[in-house]
Formats: sequence, structure tokens, C-alpha cells
Amino acid sequence: MSVPKAELHLHIEGTLEPGLAFALAARNGVELPYADTDALREAYRFQDLGSFLNLYYELMAVLRTERDFEELADAYLARAAAQGVRHAEIFFDPQAHLARGVGMGTVIDGLWRALGRSEETHGVSTRLIMCFLRDESAESALATLDAAKPYLDRITGVGLDSAEVGHPPAKFREVFEAAAGLGLRRVAHAGEEGPPEYITEALDVLGVERIDHGLRCVEDPALVERLVRERVPLTLCPLSNVRLRAVDTLAGHPLPAMLDAGLMCTVNSDDPAYFGGYAGDNFDAVRDVLGLGPERLRELARNSFLAAFLDDDEELRSR
Ligand code: ADE
Ligand code: ZN
Repeated sequence: MSVPKAELHLHIEGTLEPGLAFALAARNGVELPYADTDALREAYRFQDLGSFLNLYYELMAVLRTERDFEELADAYLARAAAQGVRHAEIFFDPQAHLARGVGMGTVIDGLWRALGRSEETHGVSTRLIMCFLRDESAESALATLDAAKPYLDRITGVGLDSAEVGHPPAKFREVFEAAAGLGLRRVAHAGEEGPPEYITEALDVLGVERIDHGLRCVEDPALVERLVRERVPLTLCPLSNVRLRAVDTLAGHPLPAMLDAGLMCTVNSDDPAYFGGYAGDNFDAVRDVLGLGPERLRELARNSFLAAFLDDDEELRSR
């Protein structure tokens, strides 16, 4: 669906399509343990978040230069624009690159080459959100924030992603406090595989303004009531939930019930190269499989702009 929308939950590394992965591997002399793109696609059968993350981090080996990050972001922005995305708030995972010897400047300067001209080239405004890997230490997150300080003019906020269970939000209290002190906005993945308590903790301890996923809030009626009352945006990713088995089937996804309950839901693609669809494809899927009508779809699109980190005048222009 090409209804104008903002995408608020998108990992740029998760937009690495098999074709681009092989092209970058060839250019950079990186050997991939897959014969070709078909063999690689065969590996896209995930049991859970962990099995996906293994492949997600493995394929990042092909991303080495500024030009690689620029091409990755430019390809995403072109596809997103074609599906009606007018504004994209883009996550990136610097620790996964720093650990491979790729510097913060290479990542951010490369991404910025595409993001900085995206309004002209694609008609898509952008924000950059730096995520901390929650299965790494709190010290590593603090060091990452420190390494990002020369680039803060290009970073709108911080997030928290990677393997959720066993890594509660409170582990990152200090770095989120420091980020807030630097004027950065805050979001966190919570309630994707982890329990509803992680959603509460992300709000109360990390001070986040949006919850990424938040799916498992439905298990706790008091939490749902709070999220409705406080108008906390949830950045849901229906096709991701199916591929990572957070739900059994798309038809069984709780999105319609969540909207009926008054939750401020948005629909996003998460890691579209891996999960079978970009933002518009996710909108199509919830329309076709969950039977959401035009009013609900408009509500989802409107929510995406309301929940975006846009200034008021920018929000009006993009709608
Ligand atoms: N990193 C990339 N995609 C993710 C997801 N869906 N959950 C947690 N971390 C991620
Ligand atoms: Zn995500």
C-alpha cells in the first residue's frame, strides 16, 4: 500500500538484500558461506529471534566502506519511497561494526551520504537512531555513546535491540540517562520475545518515548490500560513477528485487538530483506489477512506521523 506513512522501526542492516550482499562481498573480497543468493535465501527460515540474529550479524561482514553503507541506505530509501514511506527513522547497530574493525565515522558518514540527500532524491525525510546491543555489556554501550559524540548532530536518538530475553532494560539505565543528558530521544525494543515487565521497565527506568514491538503487552491488561492512557506508541512489525515466530500465524496477530483496545499502534518492517516485505507490504498484509479497513489503515498511517520525532511543521508537511 502506498498510503503516505512514516517508518519508525527499521534496522538499516536488516535491509541488506541477498543481491547486494553478494555484490558487496565480491567488491570487498569477503567470502560468504553460501553458493549464491538462492542458497542464502534458503537460510531465511528462522526458529526465533536468536536464529535470525546469527545470520543478520554474519552477513554484516560485507559492509566495510562508507560507500557500502551509502548504497545500503540508498537502496532502502528507494524501496521505502516506492511503498509510500515519506519519513524514516532508521536504526543502526554500531557495536556490530566496531567489533569488526569498521569505525563509527565510516558507518555514520556512509549512511549520511544517502540520508543527507534523501529528501531531494527520494522525497523521504530521515532520522538516525543509534541502537545499543543489549546482549553486550553496559560498559560497551557507554563506550559506544562516547564514540558517537563527534556525530551527535546527525543522531536523533538511541535505541536498544538484539537478543532480548535475559537482558532487561534496567541494565542500560546509565547509558540512557547519559543519552538523555545529551539531548537524545529514547526508544527500546521490549516485549518482542521478552516479558511485559520489560515494557514497564523500559518506560520507567530508561524513560523511552516509544516501545519497539511491545507485542507482549497484551498479556497484561493493566499494562495495556497504562499504554492506552499514556498514549505510548508501539512500533509493531507484523511480518517480522510471523518469521520470528512471535505469533503462530499472521491471521492470529493481535493487531486488530490492540487497535480496538485503543493502543497507539504503528506498522513497520523491522528487517525487510529477511522478513518478506517492506513497510507497504506490511500494510498490505494487515489489510488482506487481518481485514483492517480503510479507517484502521488511515489510523495506522496517522499514528506513524504522530509518533515520529518530527518537528510540528515537518509533521504537517509530510502528511
Ligand atoms: N535487531 C535487528 N532486528 C531485531 C529485532 N527484531 N529484535 C531485536 N533486535 C533486532
Ligand atoms: Zn527491531
